[in-house]
Amino acid sequence: MSANIQRNQLLKTILDQFKISRKGVHGPAHWARVRYHGLMIGAECGADLNVVELFAFLHDSQRLNEYSDPEHGARAADYATSLNGSFFNLNAKQLDLLCAAMKGHSGGEVHSDPTIQTCWDADRLDLGRVGIKPDPYFLSSLAASRIQSAYEWSINHTGEADFGLD
Ligand SMILES: [Fe+2]
Ligand SMILES: [Fe+2]
Repeated sequence: MSANIQRNQLLKTILDQFKISRKGVHGPAHWARVRYHGLMIGAECGADLNVVELFAFLHDSQRLNEYSDPEHGARAADYATSLNGSFFNLNAKQLDLLCAAMKGHSGGEVHSDPTIQTCWDADRLDLGRVGIKPDPYFLSSLAASRIQSAYEWSINHTGEADFGLD
């Protein structure tokens, strides 16, 4: 189902309130790589790609520091809920998936729902940005089969965020 995501306006709105460095490891270049990994994995496993894309844009948008901020996912879920109907239109089921994915994204778990797991896979597949090879234990089997290519892609795309906007 199309969520009518207004990408340009949404990203501007998110960045205008972003409280940590845009050049940091949780900034927009990371969001863009999570989007890339998520759309690739999600297209193969039947994930809801609207939810996956919004996860990429929003999951680290409420961080207050680069280190320990265990509530940033829960705050991101509240923030996403406040934006629904303005910059995108998710139905109740999609919003539940997005919020669950964001609340649990730093817990190190694996989920049976393909959309939620794709979000987590996408985030973990970008660990190459901090020099860490993702551990297959924390990935779906599909994502685990892409560790090497994702690692190489992430370490070679460290510049400005590329969201593929018009
Ligand atoms: Fe995060
Ligand atoms: Fe992240």
